[in-house]
Amino acid sequence: MLDLAGKHILLGLTGGVACYKSAELCRLLVKAGATVQVVMTEAAAQFITPVTMQALSGRPVYASQWDAREPNNMPHINLGREADAIVLAPASADFIARLVQGRSDELLSLLCLARPMERVALLVAPAMNREMWAHPATQRNLRQLDADGARVLGVGNGWQACGETGDGRMLEPAQLLEEIVAHFQPKALAGEHVVVTAGPTFEAMDPIRGITNHSSGKMGFAIARAAREAGARVTLVAGPVHQPTPRGVSRIDVLSAEQMLQAAQGAVQDATVFVATAAVADWRPADQSAHKIKKDGSGQPPVLRFVENPDILLAIARTPRAREGALFCVGFAAESENLVEHAKAKRERKGIPLLVGNIGPLTFGQDDNALLLVDAAGVRELPRAPKLQLARELVAEVAARLPRPRPAP
Ligand code: C5P
Repeated sequence: MLDLAGKHILLGLTGGVACYKSAELCRLLVKAGATVQVVMTEAAAQFITPVTMQALSGRPVYASQWDAREPNNMPHINLGREADAIVLAPASADFIARLVQGRSDELLSLLCLARPMERVALLVAPAMNREMWAHPATQRNLRQLDADGARVLGVGNGWQACGETGDGRMLEPAQLLEEIVAHFQPKALAGEHVVVTAGPTFEAMDPIRGITNHSSGKMGFAIARAAREAGARVTLVAGPVHQPTPRGVSRIDVLSAEQMLQAAQGAVQDATVFVATAAVADWRPADQSAHKIKKDGSGQPPVLRFVENPDILLAIARTPRAREGALFCVGFAAESENLVEHAKAKRERKGIPLLVGNIGPLTFGQDDNALLLVDAAGVRELPRAPKLQLARELVAEVAARLPRPRPAP
């Protein structure tokens, strides 16, 4: 997906060993469809050469405010105005301090100061030693930078080039790309709290084995990511899946349907949207053996008895907040045939405003899907597309259905 098609990013590098990651970030930005203009400080050029950054961006790097290539000799004006966003990665402690002071004695700080603030966002990816990060001066500067309208993207935690371990690593290139892509998405869910259930559940028979299903969690994780991109606070209640947590999303890991119900009920207390994508097991073993159920040599398999699991969506759709419209509930239906009829019937049965149908065997584990939206007005198809694109379309559809003005949470 060319998430950044048509976008022009000014990628600013300042002095720090994390400059090696900026080469990969540049490549990812280009792969996502952006054009990239690299600007480097003198310190950045100590860590990585402009040759590398020129090769990856396909454009000569700028490093000096006296660069005569610009016909008007004003790279600090021209470069900032051409950009859709300025990304500083890595942003050193010193460079952040300089931004806070409005200093402008070299090209990168000069063009940050000269940028049209209402149109060109400044995204800052700090990188420094953990003591420098924790220092009150740095934290004070970051608060001021935020108050001055920049977006500080946070830092990672872990091993640092100095040999110490802690906060202050630059975010990984893929995480930075996710933040940059999110920045450009419309903020249709700003101020909302969205709770999403995702993945399968695992219903234990004994400490070793259990019953689960093929749900990969990809659709639910894509919806969580799209909701966060759209400006919502997002809580993702996830069954056992191998999916990375989307940036900025709080994740609660659960195993069984009962655990998922408890986590979802807690999370929806102040939520405004609930999206149930989880493939919850309908039944769980009635008894859980404390020890592994062994073969006893008789050739007789054990007899398992089952009890019905709670219907999480139904339970939440019946709460007073959902009934009053303060919590907008969205259900999913994975069918293998007769999608329209099953989806309509399921929406009625669950008493929810919006139900999303898909064909189970065509979606489990896949990166793309096709959706059928069923609401009181009728049926609408979202044709086959990558799950993230469908998730963004679904988020826009949900946002358009939320009652306005919004009831207090
Ligand atoms: O009833 P059925 O399982 O077909 O309904 C599917 C929808 O209900 C999905 O949104 C699913 O996440 C939700 N569901 C649930 N708890 C269950 C069963 C289904 O939340 N126990």
